[in-house]
Amino acid sequence: MLFNKIEISPLLLSEIHFMGFSEFHINDNDFVIIDKNVFNKYKYTFPTNKVLILESNEELKSFNNLKNVYSFFSKNNLHKDNNVVCVGGGTLSDLIGFACNSYLRGVNLILVPTTLLSMADASIGGKNAINFQHIKNLIGSYYLPKKVIIDINFLKTLQEEHFFSGLAEIIKIAIVKSKSLFLIIQQNIEQIKLLNFGVLAEILEIAISLKCEIINIDFKDENQRLFLNFGHTFAHSFELKENIPHGLAVAKGINLALEISEKFAGLPTNTKNDIIDLFNAFNYNLKINYRNINKLALTKDKKHLSNTNKLVLLENLEIPKIMNLNNDEFNQIIKDLSKFKVYQ
Ligand code: GLY
Repeated sequence: MLFNKIEISPLLLSEIHFMGFSEFHINDNDFVIIDKNVFNKYKYTFPTNKVLILESNEELKSFNNLKNVYSFFSKNNLHKDNNVVCVGGGTLSDLIGFACNSYLRGVNLILVPTTLLSMADASIGGKNAINFQHIKNLIGSYYLPKKVIIDINFLKTLQEEHFFSGLAEIIKIAIVKSKSLFLIIQQNIEQIKLLNFGVLAEILEIAISLKCEIINIDFKDENQRLFLNFGHTFAHSFELKENIPHGLAVAKGINLALEISEKFAGLPTNTKNDIIDLFNAFNYNLKINYRNINKLALTKDKKHLSNTNKLVLLENLEIPKIMNLNNDEFNQIIKDLSKFKVYQ
C-alpha cells in the first residue's frame, strides 16, 4: 500500500465574541474588507489599514470579484502574519472566506457580521462559496475564521426584510434542534418585532451555540449538519427566481418541506400548523409558486450525490430526518405536491 489513511479532524478554533465593533482592536497591518454601506459609517476607523470596499449582494459572489480580491491581497503583499478583517453580511463573508482559504493556502480571517443572517448563520461554522453558472454556492470550501465579532448594534440600521431574513434562519435552527428556542421565539413575538435587544441577544446566542454544537460533531456536512439545510433545497430556487433575500426564500422552502414532511415523514399536522403560525405571526410571505422551482438548481444542490437527493424532512420539532430520493422520485414528489393545497 502506498499511503495509509490519515484522518484529519478539523480544529475548531473560531472564537466568537459578543462585543461592540468599535471596541475591537484592529492592528495597523490588518487588511480590512468592508461592505460599502458599513464603510460610510466607519470610514475614519481604519486610517492606516489597506481597505477594500465592496458592495454586498449575491452578484458579489463571482469569479471576477474573487479575482479582484486576490489582486488586492497580492498588490498589497498580504502575508500569513496579517489578518483579513471582513466586515459585512453573508455574501461578503462567503466570498472573502473562500479567498482567504485559497490565498497562500490560508490566511487569517476575522469576521465581523453586520446582518442578522450572517451573525446567526453565515459567519458561524466556516462555510464559504461563490456562485457558478447560476448555481448558488457551487464552488466553495470549509475554512474557519480565527474570530467572529458579533455586535448586535449593527441590527439597528438593518433593513426590515434583511432582519426577517436572518430571523428565518434562527427559526429554522429552533425547528430542527431546539423546542425550547422555538418556545422562546413563540413567547417573544412582539418583543422581537420591536427589536428588543435583550431578547434578540438571548435568542441569537442560543441559535449560535446550537449551530456550534452541530458543527463540532459534523464539520463537513456528512450527517447532522445536513439538518441545517432544512427548507434550503427549495429555497435556493426561490431566492434566484424571485430575487428575494436568502432567509425569506428559506421560509418558503420550509413551508414546502413541512408539507412533504407531513405526507412522507409523519409530521403531525398540529406541529406543522404551529410552525406556519409562527412564520405568519411575523408576516412572512410563504406563498409557493411551483414554476419557480428550478430543477437544475435542485439537482445541482451541493448536498446532492449524483442521483440521490438528500431531502431534509421533519418528523417533529427537534426531530429532523434525511430522505434519500433518486431524481425520478424527487421530481415525482414535486409534481404531486403542486396538485395538493400547500398553505398559501
Ligand atoms: N448554513 C448552513 C451551514 O452552515 O451548514
